[in-house]
Amino acid sequence: MSAKESPARPPVKLAVLISGEGTNLQAIIDATSRGELRADIRLVVSNKAGAGGLERARRHGIPAQALDHRQFVTREDFDRALVATLNSHEVELVACAGFMRILSPVMVRAFPNRIMNIHPALCPAFPGVNAQKAACEYGVRFSGCTVFFVGEGVDDGPIIVQAVVPVYPDDDEARLAARIHVQEHRIYPYAIRLYQEGRLEVRGRKVFISDFPTVHNSSAAINPPLP
Ligand code: GAR
Repeated sequence: MSAKESPARPPVKLAVLISGEGTNLQAIIDATSRGELRADIRLVVSNKAGAGGLERARRHGIPAQALDHRQFVTREDFDRALVATLNSHEVELVACAGFMRILSPVMVRAFPNRIMNIHPALCPAFPGVNAQKAACEYGVRFSGCTVFFVGEGVDDGPIIVQAVVPVYPDDDEARLAARIHVQEHRIYPYAIRLYQEGRLEVRGRKVFISDFPTVHNSSAAINPPLP
């Protein structure tokens, strides 16, 4: 990604939802600091009070709060509280980054095509939890990560960016997860940047990116490589 900015558009008012360490949150913060992404990170929310990512946000002066899902009777009740919190911070775009909650229609319809998620597999393969373990056990030669717009299904919304990594027969879940994480940290800030620049248009299942050179090359990644 080049450091070119788009001064015509204001920074995107962003909230990041997390449940864990927040290394993707860190990548978004870092891309913003480097000027590669114009984002005003207004809020970080975790459904787990002990999530490391909350502390990470506070260290960078970003408001961070826990919203414990166990305090709500239904998924919809939790999502209503989440929508109210996000609206009170005038959030425009929501980035789920390791947020291990399925969003109900209450949340999805409050932010139509304005919620992104990242999944550690090449969607629609291996949806849900433990995607890296599932990929290792299946024996695929490639996996990767996907940034997509959240719809009402699980990990099946319109795809914005994907990155592919090789998988080797002696990989375990941790090694594959680490390889995928490196690419997640590149493509998530990139996807948010495309949104901030006003370049994403969802038509049905597909996301079209404006001002993008349509070079259809025929190169292929092959694993194991041909001799
Ligand atoms: C990431 O690998 C992300 O793809 C995954 O959780 C991890 C969070 O890491 N998300 C899912 O599995 C969602 N189905 P992080 O807290 O270090 O950003």
